[in-house]
Amino acid sequence: MTTAPTTGTSTGTGYTARFKVWRGDAEGGGLEDFAVEVNEGEVVLDIIHRLQATQAPDLAVRWNCKAGKCGSCSAEINGRPRLLCMTRMSVFERDETITVTPLRAFPVVRDLVTNVGFNYEKAREVPSFVPPEKLAPGEYRMQQEDVDRSQEFRKCIECFLCQDTCHVVRDHEENKQAFAGPRFLMRVAELDMHPLDAAADEGLDRKTTAQEEHGLGYCNITKCCTEVCPENIKITDNALIPLKERAVDRKYDPLVWLGNKIFRRKE
Ligand code: SF4
Ligand code: SF4
Ligand code: FES
Repeated sequence: MTTAPTTGTSTGTGYTARFKVWRGDAEGGGLEDFAVEVNEGEVVLDIIHRLQATQAPDLAVRWNCKAGKCGSCSAEINGRPRLLCMTRMSVFERDETITVTPLRAFPVVRDLVTNVGFNYEKAREVPSFVPPEKLAPGEYRMQQEDVDRSQEFRKCIECFLCQDTCHVVRDHEENKQAFAGPRFLMRVAELDMHPLDAAADEGLDRKTTAQEEHGLGYCNITKCCTEVCPENIKITDNALIPLKERAVDRKYDPLVWLGNKIFRRKE
């Protein structure tokens, strides 16, 4: 007769780990305990899949690429927002209990799946790039530094880990209406830095709307968003702080102030 291995002990090819996984839905739920096999080279998503295959066939989890590129397997591991597919089991001690919970800033649908619709609403609130009217294709050569600057922001996989960790909304549901969150303030910053964006010709001042419509002032540059970004985008240093600086320059520039008095923004 074989006996089940105790957690943390080696079974030759691997070991058995202790997991706590949040199970439930919008009505409520709690942590459920599991002991599960772990093999060399596995990531947390492998373990969640093994739980589905062997112990909890109805465990809900969202994933797609298993390569850190689709941004759909976002959850919290030991309280830290992470991608399940990019978190190696080897970063944990073998005798450590690993707790997996859904993203805290968004409403739970079921188990590890949350409704991230807040982010899509915020995305829609950011006016898109405005192409310059009189410039034909091929008439403008982008400078490499302009390409490089926005290329960093284009690496975003929309995992919303930064949105989840930002304290402005994480514990303050009431701020969600006024605050777009780091991912979308970064989008505003990217468009505002774009040398060809002609939004101003349409009467849209992105620096002013960043403050007045997307809640830039709520951000107190704690850099928590930067710390959890799986693409290592320097959200705070390269997008939010420069946008804040430009917004402040604009507010206190006497010529801008005079211009704002004379010209009304076109609707
Ligand atoms: S730096 Fe700003 S946007 Fe990023 S987590 Fe902190 S408060 Fe939120
Ligand atoms: S900025 Fe980084 S953390 Fe935020 S959604 Fe994009 S990839 Fe995810
Ligand atoms: S499954 Fe695509 S990022 Fe994890």
